[in-house]
Amino acid sequence: MNTIALVGAQWGDEGKGKVIDILAETADYVVRATGGSNAGHTVVSGNKTYKLHLIPSGILYPHTKNIIGNGVVVDPKVLLEEMDTLAAQGVSLKNLVIDLRAHVVMPYHKELDELAEKAKGDNAIGTTKRGIGPCYADKSDRIGIRMIDFIQPEVFAQKLKTVLELKNAIITKVYGGKALDYNEIYSEYLEYAKRLAPITTDTGAELYAAIKSGKRVVFEGAQGTLLDLDSGTYPFVTSSHPITGGFCAGAGVGPTAIKECLGIAKSYTTRVGAGPFPTELDDEVGKHLLNVGHEFGTTTGRARRCGWLDAVILRLAVRINGLTSLAINKLDTLSGIKKLKIATHYILNGKKLTDFPADISILKDCTPVYKEYDGWDEDLSACKSFSELPVNAQKYIEAIEKLTDCPVSMIGVGADRHQMINK
Ligand code: GDP
Ligand code: IMO
Ligand code: MG
Repeated sequence: MNTIALVGAQWGDEGKGKVIDILAETADYVVRATGGSNAGHTVVSGNKTYKLHLIPSGILYPHTKNIIGNGVVVDPKVLLEEMDTLAAQGVSLKNLVIDLRAHVVMPYHKELDELAEKAKGDNAIGTTKRGIGPCYADKSDRIGIRMIDFIQPEVFAQKLKTVLELKNAIITKVYGGKALDYNEIYSEYLEYAKRLAPITTDTGAELYAAIKSGKRVVFEGAQGTLLDLDSGTYPFVTSSHPITGGFCAGAGVGPTAIKECLGIAKSYTTRVGAGPFPTELDDEVGKHLLNVGHEFGTTTGRARRCGWLDAVILRLAVRINGLTSLAINKLDTLSGIKKLKIATHYILNGKKLTDFPADISILKDCTPVYKEYDGWDEDLSACKSFSELPVNAQKYIEAIEKLTDCPVSMIGVGADRHQMINK
C-alpha cells in the first residue's frame, strides 16, 4: 500500500496546502474527505500563489486525479468560481471528480450560519460563515441534498421545496429574518448542477481499486485536530471530523487503507475564531508571530491569534490521528526571537495535566508550564538540510520529537514548495 494522510495537528492553517502540494507531485490521487469551503490552503510555486478552498491541491499536477469525497460539503457556487479561477490561471480541471454522496451547501445554510452566529452574541463561535455547520446538521438530520439529488432536476426541485419551507420558517419565525425565494434559488442552482453533473461519480469504489493496485494516494486534510467535533475544543470547533479517522468515513475506504499519517503543525500555534487557547500570547512576541508569519486567514482574512507551541495539543494530535511523523512548518518565522518556549503540560489547582482536558471550561484556570529554548538569529529560508540549520533550531526540533514521542520528518523554512527540509 502506498497511501498517506496529511492532517492538521493544531487549529488549522498549519501549512497543509504546501505539504500536500509537495506530496501530490508523485501522487496518482489526492482526496479531500472532510470540511468544505471553510478551508483555505495556500500553495506557493515560484511567483504563483494558489488559494484553494474545495479543490484538492493535487489539481496543480496534470497527472494527479483529484477527488472531492463523500464527506465534503460542497458549495457549488464557490466550487465553480474556484474552477473558473484556476482555469484562468492555466490549470487543467479534467482530473477533478466529486462523489455522488457529498452534501450540497445551499444559500439557506449560509444564511442560517450568519443568523445563528449573530444570535449567539458573545458566545459566537467565529465561524467562517460558509454554511458548514448548518449543512452538516442537515446531513445528520437526514434532510440534506446530496450531489446525486442535486444533478436530477426533478429530485432537486422536490427536495429543495420541502426543505426550504422548513428553513424559511426558522429564518423568519426564530430569527426574524427574510424568507429566501424558491424560484430564485432553483433556477440559479440548476445551472450549477448542470455544470457539475458530468464530474460526479461514485469515487469510493474507484479509490479502493486504486489503493489495491498500489497507486500512490494522498488524503488531504482540512481544518485541524483541535477543530474536530469530538476531540476538539467543543463547541468552538467545526462540524466535521478533520482527523485521520474522519478521512476514512469521508473518502469511503476503511482505516487499513491509510498506511502513513503525517501531522502538520507550525513551529508555534495559531487559531482563528473564538475559543480557548492556553498558550496565546498577547504581547510583543505574539505581534512578531502575527506580522513576520503573515498570520491572516486565507478564507476570511481575519488576523489569527498567535501563541507558543503547545506539546499537550500535539500529543493529542499524535494519539487521535495515529501519527507516524510530524511536519513542522514556519520554523523560519521564529528567527530573531531570543528565548523560545514550548508548553510541556498544564497546571490545574496544583495538579499536573499532561492530556488535553475534555472540559474546556477548566482551560481558563490551567496554567501552561513552559520549557525554554535558546533562539537563533539566522535567516533559515535558504537552508536545504537539517545539518544546515543553526544548532539551536535543530535542538528546538529535537525537543518537539521528545515532547510528542513522534519523529519530525519535514521542516518548513518558507512558503515555497521548495522550502521544505526532509529530516
Ligand atoms: P493550510 O490551511 O493548513 O493549508 O494553511 P494556510 O495556507 O491557511 O496557511 C499557512 C500559511 O503559511 C500560508 O500563507 C503558507 O503559504 C505559509 N507557509 C506554509 N509553510 C510555511 C513555512 O514553512 N514558512 C513560511 N514562512 N510560511 C509558510
Ligand atoms: P484550513 O483547512 C482555521 C474555524 C473557524 C471557526 C471554527 C468553525 O484552512 O486549515 P466553521 O466555518 O467551520 O463552522 O467554523 O473553525 N475553521 C478554521 N480555522 N483553518 C481552517 O481551515 C478552518 N476551518 C474552520 O475559524 O473558529
Ligand atoms: Mg488555511
